[in-house]
Amino acid sequence: MTTATPRPTADVDVANIARIYDYYLGGLYNFAVDREKAERIKAMLPSVDLLARANRDWLRRTVRFLLAQGVDQFIDLGSGLPTVNNVHEVAHAGNPQARVVYVDHEPSAVLHGEEILAEVPLAAIIEADGREPEQIWSHPAVRELIDLSRPVGILMGGLLVFVEDEDDPAGLVAAYRDAVVPGSYIAISHLSQDLADPETRAQVGRMTEAYRVGVGQQLYVRDRETMTSWFKGMDLVEPGVTLMADWRPDPGQAVDAQTPSRALGYGATGLVV
Ligand SMILES: C[S@@+](CC[C@H](N)C(=O)[O-])C[C@H]1O[C@@H](n2cnc3c(N)ncnc32)[C@H](O)[C@@H]1O
Repeated sequence: MTTATPRPTADVDVANIARIYDYYLGGLYNFAVDREKAERIKAMLPSVDLLARANRDWLRRTVRFLLAQGVDQFIDLGSGLPTVNNVHEVAHAGNPQARVVYVDHEPSAVLHGEEILAEVPLAAIIEADGREPEQIWSHPAVRELIDLSRPVGILMGGLLVFVEDEDDPAGLVAAYRDAVVPGSYIAISHLSQDLADPETRAQVGRMTEAYRVGVGQQLYVRDRETMTSWFKGMDLVEPGVTLMADWRPDPGQAVDAQTPSRALGYGATGLVV
């Protein structure tokens, strides 16, 4: 007699970052425990959902920009859930043959992601640590979908916020840069507060504390100079390291200068030369 291996189920009793983020984006892949934590964090930084949406909007514009440069394969590190018009939807709208591998280290995000992508050709999600490039390159799904002899778009939307200085974010970006061929791109967005007013900075401090205590996750805030230094050995795509909303905004894109979260995230893309 053979017994089937029980399929793991998502842990719905413990809040997790990917589902909290999905909630802020207006997605459907979150549970009561996530929503409760999300609202507690939002009480600390009321515009946190707008920040998440600005980040996702930046990511979508970045993917469209890369498609226009001829990039047709993407690795999205720290992807969260592949929902709410995420990378594969934007990429396939521009090029149905584009290949997308999502990477997240949270088993729950990957489990939901596998369900979502089950019927989607040329896209996959894998469970791996974005701080370990070798885990990514050696994964069977990456080997199957991504041709490293051709340009790749490496996306790090919000990933390095979770990478502490001891884990050397600059060295990590350099490791990805050195593994891909010239003509590839690396796109990074990051939590920042250099341009925020004092009240918003105080809110950011309370929000990072709420993440640390409530979700057990430390978030790091970095400045523009630090983020710019990560693009060593690349040509920064115009307009360089800017607030996310200012990075190649869509014509007519609504920009609310009064939204405090507007000052809380930089986005940038580098061309590997
Ligand atoms: C803020 S969400 C970003 C979602 C998406 N990239 C975007 O820009 O819209 C960050 C995600 O990174 C994941 N993450 C954090 N550290 C990671 C690591 N070391 N390796 C892989 N994923 C990680 C979290 O689980 C979370 O889902």
